[in-house]
Amino acid sequence: MGYFIAPSILAADFGNLQRDIKMINASNCDWLHVDIMDGKFVPNISFGPAITKVMKNHCEKPLDVHLMIEDPDRYIQDFRDAGADVITVHLEACPHLHRTIQAIQATGAKAGVALNPHSPVSMLKDVLEILDLVCIMSVNPGFGGQKFIYQTLNKVKELRDIRDVINSKALIEIDGGVGLQNAEALLKAGADVLVAGSAVFKTENPIQTIEKLKNIDVHTYLN
Ligand code: DX5
Ligand code: ZN
Repeated sequence: MGYFIAPSILAADFGNLQRDIKMINASNCDWLHVDIMDGKFVPNISFGPAITKVMKNHCEKPLDVHLMIEDPDRYIQDFRDAGADVITVHLEACPHLHRTIQAIQATGAKAGVALNPHSPVSMLKDVLEILDLVCIMSVNPGFGGQKFIYQTLNKVKELRDIRDVINSKALIEIDGGVGLQNAEALLKAGADVLVAGSAVFKTENPIQTIEKLKNIDVHTYLN
């Protein structure tokens, strides 16, 4: 199968949000990644369902909403109503993860679980069968523009192996410090979705960068 590119809107120019979303629409990317931060689970604060809805109104691509918030169950329906197509919560923020996954899917959205760099992929073994997506964080969540943590490459491979054994359909997403410099290695390791913030929005020609990210030759690696 092919792979997906999901630019992260966090790195956009919020004074020109409509312009940047038009660029997303015109590009060859697959999803728009939307980072929600509450100032508690992560040190930074971004925005909430109201701004997400504005994005939905302008964006023609599915919204991949990454909730970096405590007690995310409180906001699942709000983000679904705002137009989220995928809702991802953090393992570290969910004591009843199985229930949370079911609550997301009950709204009609796809359910994802994100893992901080310190959380082993084996923690998801018993929910992998029902999951739609696993997001492996390759930076500590909270900020764009951070350096890729190299060890996470092994986590992608490890998860790919566990997924094959369990026969799960969960997509493997990698988020943080991803760009043209490491995309090939990540795809080779088994990633299905590449999230890229700075690597897309901070380049001179984001449409062209997305095109390059979409055209990495992985046929020799993927089956
Ligand atoms: C980090 C966010 C990422 C971030 C990626 O907390 O979850 O999605 O926006 O940004 P870059 O690609 O710049 O690391
Ligand atoms: Zn994210």
